[in-house]
Amino acid sequence: MDKVYLDNASTTCVRDEVIKKMQSALAECYGNPSSTHSFGRTAKTAIETARKTIAKYLNAHPSEIIFTSGGTEADNMILRCSVRDLGVKTIITSKIEHHAVLHTAEELEHECGIALHYVDLDKNGNPDLEHLKKLLRQDDSKKMVSLMHVNNEIGNKIDIDAICVLCKENDALIHSDTVQSIGHYAWDVQETPIDFMTAAAHKFHGPKGVGFAYLRRNSGLKPMISGGSQERGFRAGTESYHNILGLEEAFIQSYENLEKESAQILEMKEYFIKRVNAEIPGAKFNGLSGDPEKSTYTLVNVNLPVGPEKALMLLFNLDVKGIACSKGSACQSGSAMGSHVLNEVLSEEDLQKPSLRFSFSIYNTKEELDYTIDVLKEFIKN
Ligand SMILES: Cc1ncc(COP(=O)(O)O)c(C=O)c1O
Repeated sequence: MDKVYLDNASTTCVRDEVIKKMQSALAECYGNPSSTHSFGRTAKTAIETARKTIAKYLNAHPSEIIFTSGGTEADNMILRCSVRDLGVKTIITSKIEHHAVLHTAEELEHECGIALHYVDLDKNGNPDLEHLKKLLRQDDSKKMVSLMHVNNEIGNKIDIDAICVLCKENDALIHSDTVQSIGHYAWDVQETPIDFMTAAAHKFHGPKGVGFAYLRRNSGLKPMISGGSQERGFRAGTESYHNILGLEEAFIQSYENLEKESAQILEMKEYFIKRVNAEIPGAKFNGLSGDPEKSTYTLVNVNLPVGPEKALMLLFNLDVKGIACSKGSACQSGSAMGSHVLNEVLSEEDLQKPSLRFSFSIYNTKEELDYTIDVLKEFIKN
């Protein structure tokens, strides 16, 4: 087998349709969207069409979509501007959020003196809604809750609708880092009372360096970056025209093919789980990633029965065999560089063993999964 890419939660390959669209955008349209001549107007019109397209799939208003450089910028923008512009004094999040949220919230605690609380997690890593309720009601400060829909390491899919309703009942703002969700799950912002969401095109076969923030209408947020009047004055800087068009095409392809492609990927995940359970005794799925109903269909995170000395060789060995996946291991040899997510959800005993995240896409095949499992078995046996 040549090369096997099972690291799609890190980033995905770009679809052919997206490459074509971007090539023609680069070759044919070089006007600055802010220019009033025809070159500029053509670019501006295409960007506004992309905004409308995205809004249509989310059942949002186009003005609620702000293009950004990706998920990190969008998360930063939402948290920082909410503290600065909306009087948010308390942020409630969880210890297993992406660092784009966690580090931003920590900085806001130090820079702006907000109160930062972490909701308790159950043994699988899902937020304890009773504790969340308690945190929401503990005082009358203006609150924002930030909880990701799909966890990028262990794949847990939380009940975001219930959490949004709870936030609204308690007059709190709700942001969800939906970077691992948008492009993979359908969203309807008229049904889900969410205030803010974030997306990154490279997680659903679009280009890197582009994404968007969903900001509910009349959010009250003001620009984070000052300068020109791009993005309706909300995000200054000449728009990344080809990237935005690539994002639009990736979005269309994802949502037009969602049912078929999600079923195809889920089948692969289930097949992987079945083979691991049957053929690698002692392997365990971390978080809820082994439960296809309660986790995203796109990934598994598996704890392997391998001792600490051999563990160091595991990822290297897979790489040598052409298999790309992600290390999800925590604290091996006391390293502080381990996964903050696994550190929260794994027992001390399981933390001593290596964990790997395998994440799938429509471009993977069952043969690739067979090869990967055979390589894993061989490594564990020797
Ligand atoms: C859950 C989550 N949030 C945020 C990000 C950051 O997105 P970007 O790489 O577009 O900045 C990622 C990417 O790894 C992610 O998985």
